[in-house]
Amino acid sequence: MCGIFGCLLKGGSAAPLIHVALKRLEYRGYDSVGAATVYEGRLYVKKDQGNVDAVHAKLHLDNLPGRLGIGHTRWATHGAPLQKNAHPQLDCDNRIAVVHNGVLENFSGLRQELEERGHVFRSKTDTEVIPHLIEESMKAGLGFADAVREAVKRLEGSYAIAAICTQEPDKIVCARKESPLVVGIGDSSIYCASDIPAFLPLTKRAIAMRDGEFAILSDAGAEIKKIADWSPVEREPETITWDLEMAEKLGYPYFMIKEIHEQPESLRNTLRLQDTYLDLMATFLDRAREVFLVACGTSYHACLAASHMFSKLAFRSTQPIIASEFVQRAGDSISVDSTVLAVSQSGETADTLSAVMHASNRAATILGLTNVIGSTLTRVSRTYTCQQSGPEIGVAATKTFTAQVSVLAQIAIKLGEKRGKLFHEEAKTLRKKLQQIPEIVERIIATQEEKIKGLAKKYRDKRCFFFLGRGISTATASEGMLKLMEIAYVPAITYPAGESKHGPISLIEEGFPVVFVCPNDSTRKATIGNIMEMKARGAVVLAIIEEGDEEIKNLADDYVEVPKGVPEVLTPIPYVVPLQLFAYHMAIERGCNPDMPRNLAKSVTVL
Ligand code: G6P
Repeated sequence: MCGIFGCLLKGGSAAPLIHVALKRLEYRGYDSVGAATVYEGRLYVKKDQGNVDAVHAKLHLDNLPGRLGIGHTRWATHGAPLQKNAHPQLDCDNRIAVVHNGVLENFSGLRQELEERGHVFRSKTDTEVIPHLIEESMKAGLGFADAVREAVKRLEGSYAIAAICTQEPDKIVCARKESPLVVGIGDSSIYCASDIPAFLPLTKRAIAMRDGEFAILSDAGAEIKKIADWSPVEREPETITWDLEMAEKLGYPYFMIKEIHEQPESLRNTLRLQDTYLDLMATFLDRAREVFLVACGTSYHACLAASHMFSKLAFRSTQPIIASEFVQRAGDSISVDSTVLAVSQSGETADTLSAVMHASNRAATILGLTNVIGSTLTRVSRTYTCQQSGPEIGVAATKTFTAQVSVLAQIAIKLGEKRGKLFHEEAKTLRKKLQQIPEIVERIIATQEEKIKGLAKKYRDKRCFFFLGRGISTATASEGMLKLMEIAYVPAITYPAGESKHGPISLIEEGFPVVFVCPNDSTRKATIGNIMEMKARGAVVLAIIEEGDEEIKNLADDYVEVPKGVPEVLTPIPYVVPLQLFAYHMAIERGCNPDMPRNLAKSVTVL
């Protein structure tokens, strides 16, 4: 998730407006910042690593000539957060500048093709193929807008782009597919941006661009067309009534709920990971003598889910260990034969890094899965994978959990194939099912949230909860428990459902709430037995079930349904979503601020 901005004024200087707009987009990423303007037939570019204030202090972002320009604040996915990888990216002749938010799946093939034709690349980004593609078409005689259109037609993946060029210095061309893009219409100005807050103080009139659309911004206004057939799109600007704070949350009251709703999009991004990264990870995991999965908090629950995936899909036994316990539990046995896969959204959690350093000092192989390229974890890992979720602002992890599980599932499938434990057809089916998960999550949010709100009203005064599941659903239940506890301040206990009879069941009395995670998988029958045990002792059961599971519907007091067709190993992704929503609405019902849970921090950098 990066922030892009474009600005065309009838008079005056665009650079100061680009600078402040980037500041407002900084919540979308802040690894590096850049801006470009066109003035008297020349492109002026300033860019560097660091956040907006740091880059401005060094380069004076306000000081670029021209009434038209583009800007970018970056959340690195391809290429480290270095100056050369900062946007705008340029063509060979420094005539075309492009800013991009999204992930291109086919960039390596395009880059190779362009390099063979003599193009010189200066960055490691996927974006850089775009200015070179535009350059090719313009050299072949196309006008700027047509050349951009030809370029985007070749792109696979997601993008929102804005481009400028010296040959046609009076327009900004932008296009979108699966990454947000809005056009802002001012009295004597026109803007494009990833998000409304970027231009909200300048104009309240906005046109939301849709997938497959293209816009040419000029003094005449915004001309919108469909990329596919170049047909014109007529859409009147809407008047935005949000204030700046609401706009940053896209109109949602809290970042947490915005991020829960963002999951279909963030999950789609995780499915655009380059195969080479997954393959490299799988190769290390295949060779390892023993594998530890090390993490804290929500990331640890992703590891719990992963341990089931590795075992079921690749017959690879792994040990998930809470990072702060790692040295005590496994420290002395770690050697050159050990492999540690550390999972950390921030890549900066002190407990995780301390476990990693211990293992590294004993010559173990360190692998990392993180959301932050350039974080300490990426520097100390032999190899790492970026989960590509974009920044998460809510302290309680939501979209980063489902993204981690999705990436780990992809690695497990790869590993299963490598080890000959998954047939090609099985792997293909699982990948197809993974592709369907974003849509399933979309449906859960669309169809179940109102019901979950009602459940939060019903359960708001309960003083303690059980979260139970079996098999891979123990991970889902654990994450549901953590969410409720950390943002709604309700004590909650999680156990593997089968273990609940060995002690915890003594807590059950009339009306005690028990949440069961019960997909239609190999554990369902046994879990139904546990539901009956709990019911017999007076528990109130809230079950997360597969759509149409009449047997559990009849047993449970309440249920939330998840669409059919999710393979057992992938269930944590959609089944956790109702639990995130439940925790969120419980927090709201109980008057808690879900974005700022007391005593917690997004990234805990102390031991
Ligand atoms: C903190 C946060 C949790 C997070 C954990 C691990 O405790 O409050 O939400 O899961 O750190 O963070 P990491 O960045 O390592 O995934």
